[in-house]
Amino acid sequence: MAIRLAIVGCGGMGHRHLRGLAELRAAGISALELVAACDPVEANAASLAGHAEAAFGTRPAVAAGLGDLHDHGVQAIDITSTPRTHHLLAVEALQRGLHVLIEKPLALTVAACRRIGDAAAESPAILSVAENYRRDPMCRLAKALLDSGVIGAPRLVVQHGVGGGDRMAISMWRHRREHGGILLDVGVHFADVLEYLLGRIDTAYAVTRLHEPVRRNPAAGAGGGAAVDPANAYAQWQRATPAAFAATAKDALYGTLTFASGAVGNIIQDHAGHGAGLGGRAVFGSAGSMTLPGDRSGGKITVHYDGGERLEGDALLERVPEFRLDANTAALFGAERLGRYDHPFPVTDAKLLAVEYAELADAIQGGAAPEIGAEQGMRAVASYYALLESAASGVPVRVPDVLDGRVDACQRALNDSLEVTI
Ligand SMILES: NC(=O)c1ccc[n+]([C@@H]2O[C@H](COP(=O)([O-])OP(=O)(O)OC[C@H]3O[C@@H](n4cnc5c(N)ncnc54)[C@H](O)[C@@H]3O)[C@@H](O)[C@H]2O)c1
Repeated sequence: MAIRLAIVGCGGMGHRHLRGLAELRAAGISALELVAACDPVEANAASLAGHAEAAFGTRPAVAAGLGDLHDHGVQAIDITSTPRTHHLLAVEALQRGLHVLIEKPLALTVAACRRIGDAAAESPAILSVAENYRRDPMCRLAKALLDSGVIGAPRLVVQHGVGGGDRMAISMWRHRREHGGILLDVGVHFADVLEYLLGRIDTAYAVTRLHEPVRRNPAAGAGGGAAVDPANAYAQWQRATPAAFAATAKDALYGTLTFASGAVGNIIQDHAGHGAGLGGRAVFGSAGSMTLPGDRSGGKITVHYDGGERLEGDALLERVPEFRLDANTAALFGAERLGRYDHPFPVTDAKLLAVEYAELADAIQGGAAPEIGAEQGMRAVASYYALLESAASGVPVRVPDVLDGRVDACQRALNDSLEVTI
């Protein structure tokens, strides 16, 4: 019997997750059945229900809140709402015994993450965090290669992104302090993926800036131009967003990380860059270096050695003969071993979201625990907050101090507004 699912939060990511469900179905994995679309904004829930009907032939119920889901026999929810609501929805669902897949960040602050962790610990239900970057087959291969010692012992990782100018990044809330801002929204992916590749982050030091206090939305109005719209899922909301608005959240971070392994990280995350952009992730080790492709691009990994020797793409698979993608990823991407792939971004996006759904279904049906539970979800949030806390205090910050709430100055206003404490 398929697990009865509700998508909770029917904005851009909710609609993208729906495509993930369709991709899952297309791959012959029908473990989940969408029975409800839940959002306090009825038009958003109705929009998702309409798309679901077009994809699956049956229209899920439209619901305004978790209390309305009981009538529809919902067993699992997929939280794709704005981060301020994550802890409220996840805690209520876990207390009701509903399984939860939840978008990153696990919650808006570490204290709010703890609420979810506590509820998960007391509930028989499954909690899985939807971190899609590490589930990219190229990220899986990079991890296998690093673990095999292909570049020796990792010493340095650089994580760079500069661009965006004064354009709105997808939606207005991403530029508002009370929603955590664009730095947390994107940076939590990086914290998770860097810990996945290199192990635990221990300390952080950063400076942050708000470079662009006014953001422009070129998609405003009926005849609006194109805005940043990953997977073409946000146009209806971007049209209704003002052409210009005040940004209150910091939009650039320049930082240093240290890992428990001794490796060092350099992170530049500047969402306000003008002129030539910059982007990339690379790891430098004691025997060589590795350049990783853009997340979800399917591009090739390249390994470089002294003297100019280089290995890339499928040739790298020979260095990790044991490497296999998990069964769900292999079914969705078409092979157990991939040195690159080539799909339009919306297709790749849907496949990775499908992997998350398949893993949730496996966990519910008695398989292994989900890869990212509350603990790692919280670690990613805390590791990133270590950077933000350091920027607020001007001194390096230890991740354990952020995890246990000893350092929380820059989260205090958010915690007060959410009414959570550690
Ligand atoms: N993994 C990724 O690549 C990725 C990409 C984009 C967004 N996200 C994450 O997905 C989440 C949603 O982002 P988005 O871009 O879709 O935002 P969005 O603004 O497009 O959509 C959010 C939706 O949540 C709804 N909502 C608000 N409060 C709610 C509540 N109490 N119950 C149910 N629904 C509620 C809103 O009405 C809206 O429809 C965020 O956590 C974001 O970080 C992840």
